[in-house]
Order: sequence, then C-alpha cells, then structure tokens
Amino acid sequence: MTMKNNYSYKLCVAPMMGHTDLHFRYLLRLISKKTMLYTEMVASNSILHNKSKKLNKLERNEDNPVGFQIGGDNPEQLAECAKIVESHGYNEINLNIGCPSKRAQSGNFGACLFSQPELVAKCADNISKSTSLPITVKTRLGIDNLDNINYLKDFINTVSSAGVETFHLHARKAILKKGINPRKNRSIPPIDYKRVYDIKKIFPHLNIIINGEINQPKDVLAHLNHVDGVMIGRAVCNNPFLLNDIDILIYNTEALDKEAIMKEYFLYIINNFNKNVKITDFTKHLACIFKGYIGSKHTRAYMCHELNYEKEPIKKLEELIFKEDLWKNGQDLYSKVI
Ligand SMILES: Cc1cc2nc3c(=O)[nH]c(=O)nc-3n(C[C@H](O)[C@H](O)[C@H](O)COP(=O)(O)O)c2cc1C
Repeated sequence: MTMKNNYSYKLCVAPMMGHTDLHFRYLLRLISKKTMLYTEMVASNSILHNKSKKLNKLERNEDNPVGFQIGGDNPEQLAECAKIVESHGYNEINLNIGCPSKRAQSGNFGACLFSQPELVAKCADNISKSTSLPITVKTRLGIDNLDNINYLKDFINTVSSAGVETFHLHARKAILKKGINPRKNRSIPPIDYKRVYDIKKIFPHLNIIINGEINQPKDVLAHLNHVDGVMIGRAVCNNPFLLNDIDILIYNTEALDKEAIMKEYFLYIINNFNKNVKITDFTKHLACIFKGYIGSKHTRAYMCHELNYEKEPIKKLEELIFKEDLWKNGQDLYSKVI
C-alpha cells in the first residue's frame, strides 16, 4: 500500500456531533486560518442515502482545511462515501474508531472497531483506492479489557500498514460493556497522556495527535513537546476565541478584534438565514460567549431556543451582540467545560 503525502497540523478542532457543523466551522475559520477542522461524524449510510434532512451534512463553506469524519464498517460502502466526500472538496477522510454509543455499537462502527484492526485496515485500504485524500483514524487508548499499550501498538501497526499515517488518540479508553453513556465516557476513566507520548516514541514516523481535556494554550505548547499535534473539543465550544490565543503562542499571530469577528459572523447569518433554516442553527454557536454574567443562563437559552420565536430575530440578535455589553468585558472562559 502506497503512503499518501499527508500534511501535518499542530492544532485541530475535534469532530463533535451537534457542534462542528458548517456554521460553527465558518465561525472558527474566521478566528483561525491554520487550525485543522473536522466535521461531525456522519454514518456511511447517511452519506449514501443522504438521510440527514435537517442540514445537509456534506455541505461545506470555503473553510479548508477540513477533515470529514465517517462512521462505518463496510469497506465497499466507505470507499463509495469517500468518493462523495472528496467530490465536495474536503481535505481528509477521518474514520471514527472512538464513539462508544449504543447506536455505534449496534452498527458495528465507532469504538467497537478497535477490537477489529484487520477490518479497519481493510476499510482504510478500500478508501485509499477510491480517493486521493489522506485517511486518518480517531480512536481511544483502549476499549473494555483491551486496555494496554501492546494492544494499541498492534492496532496502530495493522492500521498504519494500510496507509494511515495520522492517529488522533483520545487519551482514555472507551467503555462499551458496562453501558455508561458517551458523555460520561468523556470524563471517566481518568485521562492518560503518557500512553500517547509512549506511542509517539514507538512510532516516530507517524503523526500522533493527542486529545482529551486540553483546555489551556500553555498546555497545548507542553503537549507539542511530545507529540505532533493537539486536538481540542469542548474547550473550543466553550470559547471559540481560544483558537486565537493558541495561534498567538504557536505561530505568533496577532490578537483578533473579537467584535470584528462577530460582525463578520453576523453578516454570514444575514446572508444565509432564510425561512428553511432556524436562526438558532447559527446563534447556538454564539451562546458560549455570554457565559459568566448575571442572567447569562437566560441569554444562552435565548440564543439556543427562544430566538426562533421572535418576529424580527435578526434585529434582536443585533441588539444582543452589538448594543449590549454582555460579552465584551473579558471573562474566564477556560474554567468551565460542557
Ligand atoms: C457534544 C460532543 C459530540 C461529540 N461528537 C463526536 C463525533 O462526532 N466524533 C468523534 O470522533 N468524537 C466526538 N466527540 C468526542 C470529541 O471529539 C473528543 O474526543 C472528546 O470530547 C474529548 O476531547 P475534549 O476533552 O477536548 O472535549 C464528541 C464530543 C462532544 C462533547
């Protein structure tokens, strides 16, 4: 299997269902030009039959680089999906081998594929025959009893032999058998960064990206001493401007004018809001900036739900963002995690 020339990135935003849709990615791209972004996971069946009626999950702005995350276990179907994804202009195919949900388990995709490395390799091999895009894998440190560095090493060995050069490692195992929900499995069991660092030492030629509870710019820098890149999820939902703080540290870029970014996103809303979409599809991504003030809970609920019922939602939104001082005075956004 020939390796494809993969490009590397130091920082990326994790795929997150309900969050990293095209609107949020538009906002994030306004804030950071260099950060790699990922879509939400889309199941291969949904891509093939275009079942997602609410938002077309394949839709893309000019927001490259973006990796498209797929969940699936059928090599032929995944190869078909990859062609479709490539034709939409995405830059990378990312396979989800980390989702512990019941739905993923019943479809034999996500974290349960961690116990089937040969099948994952076959999927990657088939995808690579149908597309010129790099294929990457997002997985966990282990699942249930398969929770040791030797197993992880074998998994990476097998899958990388099919041409996968980049692995995103959420630094904790997935718990499948005990039936804890995916949300809980994002905070337990405890995070284990050392195992990710050890994997990088074993595979110096692969891109190893670390993920899990990384919330502070200085911590990103510290991880970059051990691995090739850092993937951040919830902390970016809590504060999208975190990306600028990290870019300043990594690339010495300039600090952004937050209000100018808000203006651009507001214009994007005006240009794209119509009777077929809800205004909160756009504004839910702004709710986080109103954290930490008296009454902020109400404002956030308003941005996520009630704004839909206003007769003139754009006017209301404009008042909230530009005429009130709710979000402009600086606050500690790093401390709370969704
Ligand atoms: C709301 C939510 C949705 C998520 N959806 C996905 C997903 O679609 N695909 C995936 O691989 N991981 C998904 N994850 C897991 C994240 O990508 C990430 O691995 C996890 O949140 C740990 O990183 P963090 O501590 O920086 O948030 C999701 C996480 C959250 C909070």
